[in-house]
Amino acid sequence: MTSRSTKLIAAIDTADINQARKWVSALEDSVDAIKLGLEFTYGCGLEAVKDLSQNQRLFLDLKLHDIPNTVASGLRSLLNNLSPELLTVHALGGPEMIERSREAIEQKTSTSQTRPKLLAVTILTSMNQQTLNAVGIADTPLDQVIRLGKMAIKAGADGLVCSAHEITALRDALGENALLVVPGIRPKGNQADDQQRVMTPAQAAQAGADWIVVGRPITKAADPAQAARAIKAELQL
Ligand code: C5P
Repeated sequence: MTSRSTKLIAAIDTADINQARKWVSALEDSVDAIKLGLEFTYGCGLEAVKDLSQNQRLFLDLKLHDIPNTVASGLRSLLNNLSPELLTVHALGGPEMIERSREAIEQKTSTSQTRPKLLAVTILTSMNQQTLNAVGIADTPLDQVIRLGKMAIKAGADGLVCSAHEITALRDALGENALLVVPGIRPKGNQADDQQRVMTPAQAAQAGADWIVVGRPITKAADPAQAARAIKAELQL
């Protein structure tokens, strides 16, 4: 059992601001952070992201991927208005893109502020050997995840978004300090939805996740706050 305390992020996946407000206020005391991604941000705008994250730690999952200068400038614009705790770029953007992202974040963080943590997305879990081959990558998905993970951390990322099944190999490759943020989690008794290879919250905590990201098992529950509390209790076991 690891001594790490695994924290819970609720994925607020909707473009309906009223629905999002309901979920966020119901979950205020029962999750450690909320995740807002493309659906909410494009649907409701950055002002709504700011509004919704006023009383909650924010994982802003926009998965930036462009030339280094554009990603760094984009991050500076974003951080003029928002203070997410975690944000994402694609590792496939390469080391310079990650280095410049880290510099931009440091430039924009005042000394009194906690610096947003930079996470790299390696290989999307929607990709498999066939789709990797289709984009010209001959390695297995896991080898590619490890290669990109090492490169991203060396270039200045604080951590990675990864599948629960990659945690053990990534901990071996990267050590204990890299932040591992893990979606694809299903508490016992929940349906897998479209997730292919799931783990329970307790299994992900045991494997060494720093944060788990849980969406539908919380947001589709009859009582979302109760579902979140049950997951938190499982993380403490
Ligand atoms: O509803 P569910 O728990 O499956 O939601 C998981 C969240 O994590 C969604 O916001 C999804 O986009 C995100 N995610 C994922 N798998 C990844 C990366 C992100 O499910 N590999």
